[in-house]
Amino acid sequence: MKVDIRLERASLSWRHHCVFSNLDLELPGGQWTCILGQSGVGKSSLLQLICGIADEADISGSIHCSDGKPLDGRVAWMAQDDLLLPWLRVIDNVVLEARLRPGRREPGQYELARYLLSQVGLTDKADTLPGQLSGGQRQRVALARTLFQNRPLICMDEPFSALDAINRLRLQDLAADLLADRTVLMITHDPLEALRLSDRVLVLNGSPARLSAPIQPSGKAPRQVSDTAILSLQGQLLELLAGEAP
Ligand SMILES: Nc1ncnc2c1ncn2[C@@H]1O[C@H](COP(=O)(O)OP(=O)(O)OP(=O)(O)O)[C@@H](O)[C@H]1O
Ligand SMILES: [Mg+2]
Repeated sequence: MKVDIRLERASLSWRHHCVFSNLDLELPGGQWTCILGQSGVGKSSLLQLICGIADEADISGSIHCSDGKPLDGRVAWMAQDDLLLPWLRVIDNVVLEARLRPGRREPGQYELARYLLSQVGLTDKADTLPGQLSGGQRQRVALARTLFQNRPLICMDEPFSALDAINRLRLQDLAADLLADRTVLMITHDPLEALRLSDRVLVLNGSPARLSAPIQPSGKAPRQVSDTAILSLQGQLLELLAGEAP
């Protein structure tokens, strides 16, 4: 079942700095929502609030799921830093969440993890330690770990930022494929990435920050980078990002 998620009147302050207040955000079930915004505007803070991990901040607001159940325990979070545990092999980092869960280990977990690592192009790195990987390779492990968690809401903070242009497009295609029916909230600085992958693109702007009305690219993701409709929306997005649009 696809669950719609609604954030209402969300406010967040770090100490006395009000990042946003009275913010509303809809995350329609089965859709991919993307948020862009200038550095420091509050994108990661918003993601942390939704994931329930903005512990040091002063927060208020509410989150409603259309199935009436709480969101707790149903979110996968891919942080801006990859957060790989340096003493665990790559494959053990991918299955980390399952290892932490109480109860018996399900058969097939390591097979699934190896499959996901092969999908992100890291078959031969499964048994190495994260310290021996490049920044982009580490980010691909973090993506495999996020996909492994198989949660209804996937929150990703700049998941492809450390990748070269070609791997970035490959990974975008892979994520679009593997997350096709999921509810996804992604942060990115790349307007083209947002427009290739998302059903809805919003811009967070100002202080306290506000969300723009969504831009909704047509057609199915992943869209072609040469798509003229996407390129024209990119101009619109850049204006919004610069704070120049009405
Ligand atoms: N743990 C924290 N303690 C205090 N202030 C914080 C903390 N985390 C973020 N901030 C402040 O909140 C504001 C928003 O930060 P946030 O990390 O959400 O920005 P962002 O939009 O994700 O930026 P970037 O694009 O650079 O990742 C910034 O002014 C930042 O200094
Ligand atoms: Mg951030």
